[in-house]
Amino acid sequence: MVNRNAFFIFLAGTLISLAIFLGLTWDTHRQVNALTHADKLSEEVVAGKHVWAGKNCNECHTILGFGVYYAPDLTKVYKRIGAAGIKAAVLQPEVTFKNSIRHMPNLGVTEEQATQLVAYFEWVSNIDNNDWPPQDRQAGQSAAQRRLEGSAGLSAGAAAFKEKCMGCHSIGGAGGSIGPALDKVGTKFDAATITKLIGDPPSVVPGSRMPPQTGVSAADRQAIAEFLAQQK
Ligand code: HEC
Ligand code: HEC
Repeated sequence: MVNRNAFFIFLAGTLISLAIFLGLTWDTHRQVNALTHADKLSEEVVAGKHVWAGKNCNECHTILGFGVYYAPDLTKVYKRIGAAGIKAAVLQPEVTFKNSIRHMPNLGVTEEQATQLVAYFEWVSNIDNNDWPPQDRQAGQSAAQRRLEGSAGLSAGAAAFKEKCMGCHSIGGAGGSIGPALDKVGTKFDAATITKLIGDPPSVVPGSRMPPQTGVSAADRQAIAEFLAQQK
């Protein structure tokens, strides 16, 4: 090939790539407001973002992949552990992560700031990020899902457990660590006791730190309890 042809191939290739790159960049920017639900950016959400930045939470955590990869990515933490879970983690880390080998410090977050953080995390969790970064899916719920599905297909109880409880509890090493692992919970409680515990933890374990799971339907509670009672 003569040099001149090579040059034109190079030039055409570069210009076409540049045009595609600029086009996609423009297209993304055009959609940012819709993808992030910018209309839901309330004052509370913005205040939560300031708490996040002011306390340097991303010294250890990431959101949308940005930050430090020491502690869990928090992009979808609101969906994973809910408002009560976030507050337990932020306000009383020394109690919540008592049994963990990793250390989340108590940064002196006030109750009001915790509420603002929850609003911020809720907003972030609703950003349509095309499932990126994907570590939540891989490390958390779907590793657990793979394990649960691996054996017998997902029973109603296992599916509901995965959705409602696995942000905080693990089985077979997959799931969250805010609550204790439940691999042997069936040796401790029967199904009726677990059903009761889900809606009102202190009625079964006095002083329990688990937030009552009021958003779980009676049918799900029953199914989850039967599933857990078999974990021995
Ligand atoms: C020094 C590092 C560090 C800093 C700073 C830090 N965290 Fe954490 N955080 C951790 C670690 C480690 C964990 C995981 C503990 C475990 O599960 O064993 C964690 C867990 C959490 C969780 C629960 C995550 C889940 O998926 O269960 C939330 C929510 C959280 N942190 C919020 C915050 C917020 C908000 C801030 C800032 C106010 C903050 N963290 C600052 C280290 C840190
Ligand atoms: C926000 C986090 C969180 C969620 C969500 C959660 N739990 Fe818990 N759970 C905990 C914590 C923390 C404890 C430990 C409470 C204590 O003893 O102080 C606990 C304890 C338990 C225990 C007692 C374990 C033992 O050995 O004493 C059972 C059983 C349990 N949870 C079941 C469930 C079920 C079922 C669900 C879903 C419907 C659920 N939890 C959702 C945090 C959570």
